[in-house]
Amino acid sequence: MTKISQLYEITKQALRAIDDPQLNEFLELLPPETCRERDLPTRTLPVCDYLLKSDLTCSATTRPVIDAFLEGVHGFAWDQTYTAEDFGEDFLQRYGWVELVGERGYYYSTKLLISFLVIGPHNTYPPHRHVADENYLPLAGNALCMKGRKNGANYILRPPGSIVHHPSRVWHSVRSDDQPLIVLAFWRWGNLTEKSDTGKP
Ligand SMILES: [Fe+2]
Repeated sequence: MTKISQLYEITKQALRAIDDPQLNEFLELLPPETCRERDLPTRTLPVCDYLLKSDLTCSATTRPVIDAFLEGVHGFAWDQTYTAEDFGEDFLQRYGWVELVGERGYYYSTKLLISFLVIGPHNTYPPHRHVADENYLPLAGNALCMKGRKNGANYILRPPGSIVHHPSRVWHSVRSDDQPLIVLAFWRWGNLTEKSDTGKP
């Protein structure tokens, strides 16, 4: 078994244990068991360095997923959607994702995207929106989540293991505190490689 296939199996076990109706709709779109892992080129990003240096808050359900993720962290195909023009260079130093399932992911799907979104400490993923219907499952750290795009709007703490739904085209934002944040992001509908609308032309 590769580190990715182990991570995939452990992640699916955790997701089935959560048994959330909103999440279950996404899990119905998982690729068939016959879907083979694709070989993707390894790439690391500055955000990876924060993960191994920190004690991460997890739940009992998300801990095995995080342990498997951290074991392979420097061997994954890390990527970023944004450039410095979008949210600045400082944001890019503490942001990245690994696509597990999707058109660019280890397990190919045009119907479902599952990615590990990582935000380094003291960073804000500013308000953005997309056509895809999205769920966040915070796995580790303290996910402070906001819906809307007004300055001063409330960020609500969503602990590891909770489900945060962002309907299609609804603005949302997430920020970390002094720990890095690892969120499993799920997309369905629309173009699963779409770059989010940041409100900038
Ligand atoms: Fe989103």
